[in-house]
Amino acid sequence: MRLNDCHNVADFRQLAKSRLPSPIFNYIDGAADDERTKGRNSAAFDDCDLVPNVLAGVSDIDTKVRVMGKEIAMPLMLSPTALQRLFHWQGERAVAAVAQQFNTWFGISSLATVSIEEVGERIKTPKLFQLYIHKDKGLNASMIERCKAAKFDAIALTVDTIVSGNRERCLRSGFTSPPRFTPASVLSYAIHPSWALNYMFREKFSLPNLQTHVDAGTNVAVSVAEYFNTMLDTSMDWKMAEKVRSDWGGEFCLKGIMSVDDAKRAVDIGATAIMVSNHGGRQLDGSRSPFDQISEIADAVGGKIDIICDGGVQRGSHVLKALAAGATACSGGRLYLYALAAAGQPGVERIVGKLRDEIDRDMRLMGVKSVAQLNRSMLRYR
Ligand code: LAC
Repeated sequence: MRLNDCHNVADFRQLAKSRLPSPIFNYIDGAADDERTKGRNSAAFDDCDLVPNVLAGVSDIDTKVRVMGKEIAMPLMLSPTALQRLFHWQGERAVAAVAQQFNTWFGISSLATVSIEEVGERIKTPKLFQLYIHKDKGLNASMIERCKAAKFDAIALTVDTIVSGNRERCLRSGFTSPPRFTPASVLSYAIHPSWALNYMFREKFSLPNLQTHVDAGTNVAVSVAEYFNTMLDTSMDWKMAEKVRSDWGGEFCLKGIMSVDDAKRAVDIGATAIMVSNHGGRQLDGSRSPFDQISEIADAVGGKIDIICDGGVQRGSHVLKALAAGATACSGGRLYLYALAAAGQPGVERIVGKLRDEIDRDMRLMGVKSVAQLNRSMLRYR
């Protein structure tokens, strides 16, 4: 299978699986416990059907939406994800360049492998920073200040990762950041020499937004679970979230809201967006899917805050369903990560282009000329 044979997210997943050492692939692909929530995130879209209206004169359509004060060209954003240079040597640079090309939001994680400053310098389209609140208050303050100086457009505070989910694939593989070549995993690195050579001979792996304050993840190999469980501040609460919002002072998103009550509180503390998300099923297995929660959240806070449906999106039709239910936009991580891992920037460009084309085509087939015309009368639940 090659790049041109990949027509959808599932194809890229297959290609990524063949090109990556298995601990790396399983870190991306894996989720918590029995991975039920991960499966449900995509399956939820299949429990709901689209009902098109025809003869709508759809020669000119408008796929633009406004999210956190910025107009983007399509209602699909690229979620921030960690450690991208482990998946492909081009890492976040490739994803950022594609987001810029398609004029949509993307984000970098606190655990990104490029610096806040570099992304600020390079990318002119809307960019957010995904903040993890650490016990080290100096580190939190430094990340917020660096985002201000680099003119980031929003901060997304991660609220679903107070402790790490139980990722059993990572327990089995011994996956760490930076990767440790253990007797159990060394063979999978050896049989993927192009990944291994790129990792060893290209720019040195680091987590430049954290390494000013912590060695773990850059100079000391740790699992992601170990990192979360030792570094992050489990005392984080609404008061702290509100303080981060006011220290930052700009567009502010809570990433990982699932309940109506929390969505209301997000409005109360002055957040401008919520990502309805269960972290790709990587945290609380058994959690409901974001798409299943959109209608009730939109009924409670729609119009007061932007609602981003994050999780399980693999098709343009999924985006249309979420928007018809009441989301402002959708976002996803694995949807571009498989393509990044499989083929670097050309891969990301290809999958984002495919999804953009699906959104455009499906809007015409639905008989809608603008995103705002999508509504619940076009949905039927099975
Ligand atoms: C994860 C974090 C790093 O899910 O976002 O692995």
